[in-house]
Amino acid sequence: MNKDILKVLVDEQEIDRVTTRIAGEIDRDFGGKSEHLVLLGILKGSLPFMAELMKKLTLNPEIEVMKVSSYGTGTKTSGSIKIILDWQRPNIEECDIVVVEDIIDSGRTLSYLCEYLKQKGAKSVHTCTLLDKPSRREVDFVPDYCGVTVPDEFVVGFGLDYAEKYRALPYIGVLKPEVYAK
Ligand code: IMP
Ligand code: MG
Repeated sequence: MNKDILKVLVDEQEIDRVTTRIAGEIDRDFGGKSEHLVLLGILKGSLPFMAELMKKLTLNPEIEVMKVSSYGTGTKTSGSIKIILDWQRPNIEECDIVVVEDIIDSGRTLSYLCEYLKQKGAKSVHTCTLLDKPSRREVDFVPDYCGVTVPDEFVVGFGLDYAEKYRALPYIGVLKPEVYAK
């Protein structure tokens, strides 16, 4: 295990089980009902999760990415959302979008993005998160697809970072507090 990790919260087997389950739920809900199912990954944290879903879906989704910023480099949210990289389609009104996120904390990023995508004219907007920290919500937000509910601890790995580190770990772990207290 990485020396900065206090404990593993979600191991590789559980990530495999959870992503299989969510892919099954999306297959069931959109199978035969969507001309343009679009997985919209929020960079960079959603990348490993998105790749798992792409492999496991039997539907053949289209792929887009967006980049937004809400966090600085630390463990606290700044509260305001900025779009750094947007996506464009001539046929957005035909797109059933499933936004793919690594973790929901305050809920501000996804509630802002859902509103933004609806205003852009998407046919439908759903949300999918690998992790959820409901105890940290500042705005009402419930994802349509959710992997694992986690306690209020700062987690890294499988896409999630602290100051751009730890994203490549194959599991999700709790960071030792002394790492970010430095
Ligand atoms: P929200 O807008 O507060 O829901 O923020 C969601 C974003 O905050 C996620 O996409 C992550 O980038 C970041 N975030 C929230 N909690 C954690 C954590 O425990 N580890 C790493 N990033 C986190
Ligand atoms: Mg993120």
